[in-house]
Amino acid sequence: MPAPQEQLMPQSASPAAFAIVILAAGKGTRLKSRLPKVLHCVGGQALLEHGIAAAAKVSPVRDIFAVIGHQAELVQKTVEHTGINFVLQADQRGTGHAIMTARPALVHYSFFLVLSGDAPLLRPGTIERLRDFHLQSGSAMTILTAEPPDPAGYGRIVRTAGQGGAADLVSAIVEDSALSASQQNLREINSGIYAFSCRPLFAHLDKLTTGNAHQEFYLTDMAAILNQAGEKVSALPVSDAHEVLGANTRAELAGLDALLRTRKCLELMAGGVTIFRPDTCVMDAGVEIGTDTIIEPFVQLLGRTAVGSDCTISSYSVIRDCRIGNGVTVRPGCMMTEARVEDGAILGPYCHLRPATEIAAGAHVGNFVELKKTRLGKGSKANHLTYLGDAVIGGNVNVGAGTITCNYDGVHKHQTTIEDDAFIGSDSILVAPVTVGSGSYVAAASCITEDVPAGSLALGRARQINKEGWARRKREKDQKEIKDGPGNRP
Ligand code: UD1
Ligand code: CA
Repeated sequence: MPAPQEQLMPQSASPAAFAIVILAAGKGTRLKSRLPKVLHCVGGQALLEHGIAAAAKVSPVRDIFAVIGHQAELVQKTVEHTGINFVLQADQRGTGHAIMTARPALVHYSFFLVLSGDAPLLRPGTIERLRDFHLQSGSAMTILTAEPPDPAGYGRIVRTAGQGGAADLVSAIVEDSALSASQQNLREINSGIYAFSCRPLFAHLDKLTTGNAHQEFYLTDMAAILNQAGEKVSALPVSDAHEVLGANTRAELAGLDALLRTRKCLELMAGGVTIFRPDTCVMDAGVEIGTDTIIEPFVQLLGRTAVGSDCTISSYSVIRDCRIGNGVTVRPGCMMTEARVEDGAILGPYCHLRPATEIAAGAHVGNFVELKKTRLGKGSKANHLTYLGDAVIGGNVNVGAGTITCNYDGVHKHQTTIEDDAFIGSDSILVAPVTVGSGSYVAAASCITEDVPAGSLALGRARQINKEGWARRKREKDQKEIKDGPGNRP
């Protein structure tokens, strides 16, 4: 006799033959927003992107379908890069109607899972548990359920009053607004996340009606319909009710965001990163950090930022889409976007790295220094009050305080090149296009408009004149005028 598991999992229902449908067609009226609900961001990603990311850990993207409707074009454009499929539900006539719309895409599967586009905390492991439980229990419908502290607003699970194992079974889901007096104390909620076997579902899906408060086709009604048709409807409770939390209001979005940020910090710390006061740090979902890196309070690491090992990122730094090597020191208050920083560089306090900036190994960028589309070579220094734009700077260059590249003529951007070992005196103006040759010196306060050959000294300023005795003569003249009074002036 085969083991019970084998008995319940026929060949045709192997995990390979399932689809994942993510419901994302709704408007999200309670957010009072121009953006559709599923594009609101928490943890640095749109709600829908979280759902897709979790689903894609369980299934190939070719078997994932998002049902879109409200602002479908914008939603599709935003998540298209993931490679999933889309089903258009032009009129949003309820969650049951969403599945009716997706039906043609699902007929070739033996079963499918339904996720909600607004539940970003769901873990891939829970999706797998739902899939496996559904198959092993031989259910027509399995509902992921939870017991949150406050069940208000959610549909409630009505369990069958049967004997023995039958208590696992569900006879109906009742929406919050339709609860009878005796059902008010039901605490187990419908998460809106389900598994369905295609054959029984599609045999009975047409029985859904719009006879309810919102005159919509409720997918939840399938619990009672399938149960009455003698099909098995099961509930699978999640242990952590947080996982199935959705967001209908801005306050709930903020709550989800906080939970996701905490989860991300815990994950990074478990991977060997030190984070002081993680409650004050904002880490996006896509951020990676190497071991023994220290993150001080009030740091934001955003987008696809990757930080190496043994770095220190100090307070009030905001870093988006940057790649930072190993052993890099970022002092307080740095703002960095789409920049690359190589090993051992020292940045800040208060530097501004703009897109396409590269800081080579061991280079220093100090306070109030802005770089844009500039490479600062190995071991080079720009430590104070400087703007370097569209510049290629070699190794071991010293850029003095107050240096400015004039890269913009009002129409075009031009490049400044500073070759290895050059020394740029303080307060220099480099009018691009211009090259300072290797090993050259630029005298302080020069305005450099012509190329400087290698190994030379460039002086681009007026020669100093000292007029001896001038100050004494001026004071004597001033004193005389005061004494003679205004009336005597010509
Ligand atoms: C739904 C469930 C409720 C459950 C709750 C969990 C129904 C009738 N009720 O209620 O039992 O406790 O989720 O969060 O299903 N959507 C579409 N097309 C539509 C309508 C909705 O794609 O025509 C999408 C929405 O974009 C959303 C999801 O389905 O992502 C759920 O819809 P929503 O209106 O939020 O349902 P709830 O009222 O929260
Ligand atoms: Ca909802």
